[in-house]
Amino acid sequence: MTKIAPSILSADFSHLADEVKRVTDAGADYVHIDVMDGTFVPDITIGSPVVKSLRKTSDAVFDVHLMVEHPETQVESFAEAGADILTFHAEAVRHSHRIVQQIKASGCKAGIALNPGTSLAMIEELLQDLDMVLIMTVNPGFGGQRFIESQLDKIHMLFHTIKEMGFDCDIEVDGGINAKTSERVRDAGANILVAGSAIYGADDVKAAIAAIRG
Ligand code: DX5
Ligand code: ZN
Repeated sequence: MTKIAPSILSADFSHLADEVKRVTDAGADYVHIDVMDGTFVPDITIGSPVVKSLRKTSDAVFDVHLMVEHPETQVESFAEAGADILTFHAEAVRHSHRIVQQIKASGCKAGIALNPGTSLAMIEELLQDLDMVLIMTVNPGFGGQRFIESQLDKIHMLFHTIKEMGFDCDIEVDGGINAKTSERVRDAGANILVAGSAIYGADDVKAAIAAIRG
């Protein structure tokens, strides 16, 4: 079953707790929290204190996407704040294996994200240790961008590698996901779909989630 993770990047930040509830009430499986540091990507969004406050208002699975340099400095604070899944970018670090172990030791599930220009080869050695790989289908930094079609082959290749090797690793896809693009992404083998603008921008959030789930 495909899991849907609405990205609160497209939510109204002045009512975040209500915005989280709005999507979980409508059937969201995870809540996707985009953390940006103003260096790895241009904007600055949410830090661990915000996650800590949201945690008091929601039991949902918090899927934290760290678009930051030096993610190793953030792991413990996000874990203590109540993150469930912590995903960092392969492009942002040198010692990815160590950070995966650090995340697991913190009690969270560990994910690695790949930008559209980054090859799967970057993470092949880590697949056996990872709980999730996040394939970006836009260049990270902003909501509402156009889906990059060339990433479908990458998703497909990753799906087959995980299957062949018998690993227990989810494939999440993030960027430009809507009712149309989600079908191809699901067909390629992804099982967790992130969507920001297509869910928070919809008149009927429940219908939007159902349409993306397919
Ligand atoms: C982009 C973020 C995404 C973003 C997706 O850098 O990682 O999670 O919110 O937004 P949409 O679904 O509008 O492309
Ligand atoms: Zn994201």
